[in-house]
Amino acid sequence: MNKGLFITFEGGDGSGKSTQITILKQNLEKAGKEVLITREPGGTEISEKIREIILDKNNSEMDDMTETMLYAAARAQLVAQVIKPAIEEGKVVICDRFVDSSIAYQGYGRNLGDSVNIINSFAIGDCMPDMTVLLKVNPREGNRRISVRNEERDRIELASEEFHQKVYEGYLELEKKYSDRIVGIEATDTIENIAAVIIDRVNELLKSKK
Ligand code: TYD
Repeated sequence: MNKGLFITFEGGDGSGKSTQITILKQNLEKAGKEVLITREPGGTEISEKIREIILDKNNSEMDDMTETMLYAAARAQLVAQVIKPAIEEGKVVICDRFVDSSIAYQGYGRNLGDSVNIINSFAIGDCMPDMTVLLKVNPREGNRRISVRNEERDRIELASEEFHQKVYEGYLELEKKYSDRIVGIEATDTIENIAAVIIDRVNELLKSKK
């Protein structure tokens, strides 16, 4: 049986990932693909419990390394329980955030550097995305978009502007470093234009995998 495809979405808070994930899913399903959507941190019962601990704004004393390892633990469980089996079954798996989030937020944002790569290599093994969509929004604009939503901010969203700026710069470096895998798109473009670029690139990938 043909193996499936693994696509991840990345971007700062308020970059419009979920809208684009929904549009891509609908398109792939129209084309007859079986699509599985999941998110990080979360996506399994255990990972959702870990998510609650990580994002709880009362856990303000959390050490950066603890944070990194909790994200990696949630990820290991999601890979083993959901992502790997679905790819083996030939599905297209779309994940809202994955390992690049840890490299950007913990590696660059929290200044933990390469240790984040090493820890995550144990969590994911060879389960790397075939393609990663990076929706680029500068932290000021992202912050404005979150404010409009009027939702309570989680522990990460409450982190400083300087932190979010480092995360953004980290993403830009990842885009350069992994230009074969990461498709960077300005999130300020219209929903339709962004969706069209994503669908084109996914179709190219599907063709090359045949
Ligand atoms: P979530 O509400 O899922 O954010 P979003 O809707 O922006 O995707 O919360 C996840 C938060 O966790 C988000 O601020 C990014 C952060 N994060 C990390 O810091 N490291 C990680 O490895 C992951 C997956 C997320």
